[in-house]
Amino acid sequence: MTKAVNIAIVGAGLVGSAFINQLSAIRSSTIKYNVIVIARSSKALISKSYSPLPLSSWSSDLAAANNATALNPGDLAAYLEKSPLPVILVDNTSSEALSKVYPLFLQQGVSIATPNKKAFSSELGLWNAIFKAAANLTANPKAGFVYHEASVGAGLPVISTLKDLIATGDEIVKIEGIVSGTLSYIFNEYSTISNSTPVKFSDVVLKAKELGYTEPDPREDLNGLDVARKLTILARLSGLEVQSATSFPVESLIPRPLEEVEQVSEFLAKLPEFDNETEKTRLAAENEGKVLRFVGKIDAGAPNGQKVKVGIEKYDASHPFASLKGSDNVIAFYTKRYGNNPLIVQGAGAGAEVTAMGVLADVIKIAERVAN
Ligand SMILES: NC(=O)c1ccc[n+]([C@@H]2O[C@H](COP(=O)([O-])OP(=O)(O)OC[C@H]3O[C@@H](n4cnc5c(N)ncnc54)[C@H](OP(=O)(O)O)[C@@H]3O)[C@@H](O)[C@H]2O)c1
Repeated sequence: MTKAVNIAIVGAGLVGSAFINQLSAIRSSTIKYNVIVIARSSKALISKSYSPLPLSSWSSDLAAANNATALNPGDLAAYLEKSPLPVILVDNTSSEALSKVYPLFLQQGVSIATPNKKAFSSELGLWNAIFKAAANLTANPKAGFVYHEASVGAGLPVISTLKDLIATGDEIVKIEGIVSGTLSYIFNEYSTISNSTPVKFSDVVLKAKELGYTEPDPREDLNGLDVARKLTILARLSGLEVQSATSFPVESLIPRPLEEVEQVSEFLAKLPEFDNETEKTRLAAENEGKVLRFVGKIDAGAPNGQKVKVGIEKYDASHPFASLKGSDNVIAFYTKRYGNNPLIVQGAGAGAEVTAMGVLADVIKIAERVAN
């Protein structure tokens, strides 16, 4: 017998579009996925009768939608509460406002699949409210499930691996990872094992921007906060009570005098003035036969206040992090069972297709639990 779920998709940008295309290509004989909402910030397609929206024309239909149909989270919750089928909300935005309503959705029985880091890396109170409301840990039959694999490492199985390690009784000793595709690319280019043709740090940042690897303002990558948010998620899943993504040491790669510069163009023009400082650090590592990488670390055995940190570290040429290529992510789980040979997850940690895959895999896992 075929079961069914309703899907509400909020966010139809890079990841959202790839998600809709992947969802329309699913051939499942056991579960039917009915899309009842597709929304972006200013417009929405909403199926008033809860019957499936046609996916073949979603993009032009959404473009033609009236701006007045834009949904606020409260209206969306009220609409989804009346769904005749179990609902999965797919949050493909980076909206903090939407993430604050997750506990309400979950209490109402709406499940959530999302690559949005905000809900899981903001204040600890929101994290606690989400998991108090969700069925994941409470087994409350009326609550929804929340899955967020793609909030760390895009489609890579980072969160599911960590959860499986813990659920089966392993102990996390240390987690070490390069979890920003942008900073992975920048350091893989800047500090190489051979270093036959040294490059300037500011030139690599500029190249990363031209290739579209950075945010429009590269300072949003260079300030380390994206890595800190991902480490917050991994640390909390490991059982550490991390208050927020700014409650542990995070090294910023933005030279202090440039922190207040307003225009991106001015920041990029002045960045070369600080190349000498970065070059000293790179040369010192090179003289030890090492390379620089921007990593996040969780060390369960470290003293309080130092268990989580984010910043530049040096690695021997033989270390797996030293030979990383392009913008790949790599996460090493050191656990009691794995001993000194960590379990390593590595691969593309950004990109719309792989991120959408991570979100869709979560949707399928939830649907297998809630569809009827
Ligand atoms: N792209 C990646 O490689 C990648 C990798 C890992 C994780 N992620 C995460 O995936 C999420 C989406 O990323 P993206 O690259 O697809 O971003 P994007 O291209 O900027 O798309 C974001 C979408 O969300 C919509 N949106 C924003 N706020 C909204 C709100 N309050 N209500 C309804 N819609 C809203 C935007 O609407 P408009 O179209 O009207 O602006 C847009 O359609 C983010 O959380 C990001 O961190 C992305």
